[in-house]
Amino acid sequence: MSFDQIIDRRGSNSSKWDLMETATGVSPDDGIAMWVADMDFAAPDFLQDAVRGLLDKANYGYFSGEPEMKQAVAWWMQERHGWTVSPDAMFSTFGLGNAIAMCLQAFTDPGDEVIIFTPVYHEFTNKINKCERVVKESPLVIRDGVYRMDLDALEASLSGRERVVLFCSPHNPAGRVWSREELRALAAFCARHDLLLISDEIHHDLVYPGQKHIPMAVAAPDAVNRVIMLTSASKTFNIAGARLGIVSVPDEALRTRFAAVFRALDVSPNLLGVVLTQAAYSPRGAEWVDALVRYLDDNQHFFVNAVDEIPGLSAMPMQSTYLAWVDFTNTGMSMDEVTTRVKQTARLAPSMGVVFGSGGENCLRFNLGMPQAQVTTAVERLRAAFSDLQ
Ligand SMILES: Cc1ncc(COP(=O)(O)O)c(C=O)c1O
Repeated sequence: MSFDQIIDRRGSNSSKWDLMETATGVSPDDGIAMWVADMDFAAPDFLQDAVRGLLDKANYGYFSGEPEMKQAVAWWMQERHGWTVSPDAMFSTFGLGNAIAMCLQAFTDPGDEVIIFTPVYHEFTNKINKCERVVKESPLVIRDGVYRMDLDALEASLSGRERVVLFCSPHNPAGRVWSREELRALAAFCARHDLLLISDEIHHDLVYPGQKHIPMAVAAPDAVNRVIMLTSASKTFNIAGARLGIVSVPDEALRTRFAAVFRALDVSPNLLGVVLTQAAYSPRGAEWVDALVRYLDDNQHFFVNAVDEIPGLSAMPMQSTYLAWVDFTNTGMSMDEVTTRVKQTARLAPSMGVVFGSGGENCLRFNLGMPQAQVTTAVERLRAAFSDLQ
C-alpha cells in the first residue's frame, strides 16, 4: 500500500468527508476535508488480516481477548516509549473522549475546576462543561516560535478550586512535544497544589525526527501516584472508528475509584477495537508507523514552508502530529474574511482555531494526514486565495 494512493472516502459514512458540508459549509464535491483528526490513508494489510480473522470466526459474542490486547499495549509502550506499564493498571474504554469524561466523573465533583493549556483539543472544554465541571484556561505562550506553558502565571491565578490538570502530550493543535524538564515542572506543580494530572497522549507515536515523546509516567516517576495516562492506537493507525482507548492508572487507590465509574457505566471491551489494537501494536505495526511518520514529516515540512511564504500567514513549526496550526493575524483581515477566503475561495475545510480556546482566535488547524498530492493542491489554493497580499 502506498500513502500516495488517493482514496475517495465520500459516501462511506466518514465524519470528516460526509459531515463536512453540514459542519463547515464546504462541499465534498470539490472541497478538501482538513478538519476531523483522522487520516485519508488505507488501512495496512496486517489490520485487514486481523479483521478477516475476526470475520472467519463468524462469531461476535462476548469474548475474552482483552488480556492479550493489554499485553500488546504494554509491549508497545515499553518498546516504543520506554514506559513499563502493567496490564493490570489498564482499562479499555470507548475511545479517549469517553475516558476523559469517566476520569472527570471518577476524580472530580461538579463545580470543581479543571486546568487546560489553551489552545487545546476542543473536546477537553466540551467534556468538562458537559460533566458540569469548570474550565480553567491557562493560555500557552509562544517562545522561540513554539508553545510553552506559563506555570508562574497559572500559579498566580489559582482559585483553590482546581482539582485536575487535563494535559495534552504531544499537544494538539500544533504538535508541541514537551521536553522532560517541562513535564517534570508540570508534575512538580501538580504535587505542590495537590492536583491530579491526566495526561492525554493519544498523539504519542506521530513524532518527527529530532524529537522524542516522553510519557508523563516516565518523565516524572515520583509523581506517578497522581498521574492518569490516556493512550490509544487510534491516531497512530487511523482506527478511531473502532473506539478504543486505554486508561492506565498506576496508583491503586485511584484505580479503585476509576473502576467504580467504569463498572457503573458498564464499559466493556469493544471487539473490533481490541482486535485492531492488538494487531497494530506489533513489529509489523512498528515498521508501518516508521514509514508513516517519514511520509507525514515530508507533508508537514512542505506545508509549513509553503504557507510561511504566503505573506500574512504563519505556520507553527511542527514537532509531531499531522495537525498544522496556521496564524492569520498578519493578514490584517478579520477572521470572517479569512474563513471566507479559505472555505469559499480555496474550498478547504480546516478546523476553526477559536474552538480550541484562548489563543486560537486568529488561527486555523489544517489536517495533513492525506496523500501529498492533496496537500499540494491545498497549498496552491491557499496561495491563490491570498494572492493579493503578495
Ligand atoms: C488530544 C486528543 N484526545 C482525544 C481525542 C479523541 O479520542 P477518541 O476518538 O478516542 O475519543 C483526540 C482526537 O482528535 C485528540 O486529539
